[in-house]
Amino acid sequence: MKTLIQHGTIINSDDTLKTDVLVENGKIIAVGENLNATNAKTVDASGKYILPGAIDAHTHLEMPFNGTVSADSYFAGTRAAACGGVTTVFDFAIQRKGMSIQDIYQERNALCKPQACVDYAFHVALTDLTDAVLDEFEDAVKAGLVSYKLFMVYKKDGLMMNDADIYRALLRSNETGALISVHAENPDLIDYYTEKFLKSGKTSAWYHYLSRPEFVEAEADKRAIHWAKSANAPLYIVHLANAEGMKAVEQAVTEGYSIYAETCPQYLHFTRDVYKREDGRNFVCSPPMKGQSSQDALWEGIRKGFIKTVATDHCPFTSEQKDWGKEDFTKIPNGCMGIENLYPYMLSEANKRRLSFNRVVELCSKNPATIFGCTEKGAILPGKDADIILYDPTINFTITNDKMHSDCDYTIWEGTELKGYITDTYSRGRLVFKNGKFLGEAGWGKFLKRTKRKS
Ligand code: URP
Ligand code: ZN
Ligand code: ZN
Repeated sequence: MKTLIQHGTIINSDDTLKTDVLVENGKIIAVGENLNATNAKTVDASGKYILPGAIDAHTHLEMPFNGTVSADSYFAGTRAAACGGVTTVFDFAIQRKGMSIQDIYQERNALCKPQACVDYAFHVALTDLTDAVLDEFEDAVKAGLVSYKLFMVYKKDGLMMNDADIYRALLRSNETGALISVHAENPDLIDYYTEKFLKSGKTSAWYHYLSRPEFVEAEADKRAIHWAKSANAPLYIVHLANAEGMKAVEQAVTEGYSIYAETCPQYLHFTRDVYKREDGRNFVCSPPMKGQSSQDALWEGIRKGFIKTVATDHCPFTSEQKDWGKEDFTKIPNGCMGIENLYPYMLSEANKRRLSFNRVVELCSKNPATIFGCTEKGAILPGKDADIILYDPTINFTITNDKMHSDCDYTIWEGTELKGYITDTYSRGRLVFKNGKFLGEAGWGKFLKRTKRKS
């Protein structure tokens, strides 16, 4: 069965075109006027924008972390994704001691596959970098596992990698075409501050920020960039949130290095002031929201093209879980939600003329597709998967948790007013969201076998 989407305006990263889109068997088969659409179902997109589905390159669904498990299952998280125009989700498959890359993938895929409502892939998060794992990189990359994440923090959670292992992984990525990403913060400085605050009874969420201020993140950004330059390897810095780190990325990119910076909508919208609120613990994530000058630098990084992607770091914890840290910020599980808010928020900022719609598509769809080797995604073009969003720029939408599709009982985005909203999401040609209603199903989403980077 063919579907013809008519009378809308296509927005790709490099083009805006008022024309029609023809879909068949999950693929976009043609774009243009007067398409041969005999027997096609027609969809009227008058007044709407037709966008490629977003790729959320950073989520943590049912992730064991901080002594608990994040609140969204793969079903709930990918349902919320579909309802926010996200048609591909990159989750983290985290290694436990002794596991091979194949073991890590198999274990996580068995959990995700029956639940996924949209397409998905995994970044493999390594915590135990043995020689056997380094040897396995080549075959793993061939099998479509092309991206790896290394934590420079979370010592007590057993996730942290030492500097030499991060460097070894970068060297190996150079040989195999894998891409290494890092969570960059300085763990020893965090420990120093945390101990100091706890000793003097300073335990509110505000001290979560003060134990990981701007320079604690910037120092680690610079160290990681230094290693990547020396190893002649590309580097993807996840959830960049500080001005000094942004400057370091700009300098390295200007010198010709492949340093990709990702930021998240929460860093673009909230500042550290949220930690002074009564519900401050709900905003506890790492790195924390920073000051206004860092937020300004991130927007400037987007304007200049040094921020390459915006992804969510979606890692919700319920009020009950967050309340464990009511009296002690170190007991608050780290993570915030956003999978359903990423695309609507960024598109709303475009609608308010802060950036162009094309740039939003570039940041949320085209660039993650290119950087992480999703050749079938990222544009409304013949041959691509029919991951298609219809967006009505005239709708006013206020985010409230009762309209969201996550399993969490609150949202940090409560009350945020958006200009314009998504009305329809198609995942490989199948309508999975329409006018506020989820229409998809568990098990629809496919694992994406990706191709390695070219450079
Ligand atoms: O606080 C966060 N960001 N939680 C999820 C794990 C991570 O560091 O990305
Ligand atoms: Zn992180
Ligand atoms: Zn994360």
